[in-house]
Amino acid sequence: MTTISIVGAGPGAPDLLTRRAEQRIQSADVLIWTDSLVSPQIAALAPDHCERIRTSTLTLEQVIPLMIDRSSQGLRVVRLHDGDPCLYSALNEQICALADADIMVEVVPGISAYQATAAAINAELTIPGIVQTIVLGRTGGRTGVPEREQLDDLARLRASLCLYLSARHVDEVQSTLLKHYPADTPVAIGYRVSWPDQSIDVVPLEAMADATRARNLIRTTLYVISPALRDQSHNTEKDFRSQKHPNKDKKIQKN
Ligand SMILES: C[S@@+](CC[C@H](N)C(=O)[O-])C[C@H]1O[C@@H](n2cnc3c(N)ncnc32)[C@H](O)[C@@H]1O
Repeated sequence: MTTISIVGAGPGAPDLLTRRAEQRIQSADVLIWTDSLVSPQIAALAPDHCERIRTSTLTLEQVIPLMIDRSSQGLRVVRLHDGDPCLYSALNEQICALADADIMVEVVPGISAYQATAAAINAELTIPGIVQTIVLGRTGGRTGVPEREQLDDLARLRASLCLYLSARHVDEVQSTLLKHYPADTPVAIGYRVSWPDQSIDVVPLEAMADATRARNLIRTTLYVISPALRDQSHNTEKDFRSQKHPNKDKKIQKN
């Protein structure tokens, strides 16, 4: 048995991988990766002899026995997840199943979609005197959300709220958020952030659903709803087009 590495591949761009993640991929004998969410350029870092197993058509119940089988042959197995493995990755199910098979696991962190989205618009999500808390969450959907973590409760905080896996429910999300945040609260909508076809819009909360529909976004979309975005000058596609420097009007805050 070898230790299996469960590795965060970051939001998409290969140069947003950590050096440790890159090293694990480069020394893999078996690479198991979600081909719909992890860039082919990242999978291409694996050596030629490496067995490549794509998981977009496989269930977790099919993937886990493959991990156990290859590890028990003494092969170095690397399982790639998009973003960071601690978020919405079924990491816990995998670790429990591998522990039952007496296989050790190493987890390598990755940059999550909320960090990539904030960075893409040069934004700080914790501005002193405005907001000091970041909430990472999602709406219901198939997986469901515990009763005490309903969006209504998360929104009550009026923190910097980062919503994963929620684009399909954007109408409901917008109307729930409007009960707590002012209608002009900025929302950054990041689609495939750091991929070549990335789009980022910053719109008022009241336009969140329309902006999502206008781009026909369903998958790989991350929302950041935050009062902290109000006074920041954003680095969106429009800014690039008008050659406006994203930090032109930004005040530098000293700690
Ligand atoms: C199954 S979850 C995995 C999250 C991932 N572990 C992370 O830390 O970013 C997939 C969701 O993450 C978000 N996501 C992942 N990569 C993204 C990207 N490059 N741009 C925008 N959203 C992304 C979307 O909300 C997508 O529906």
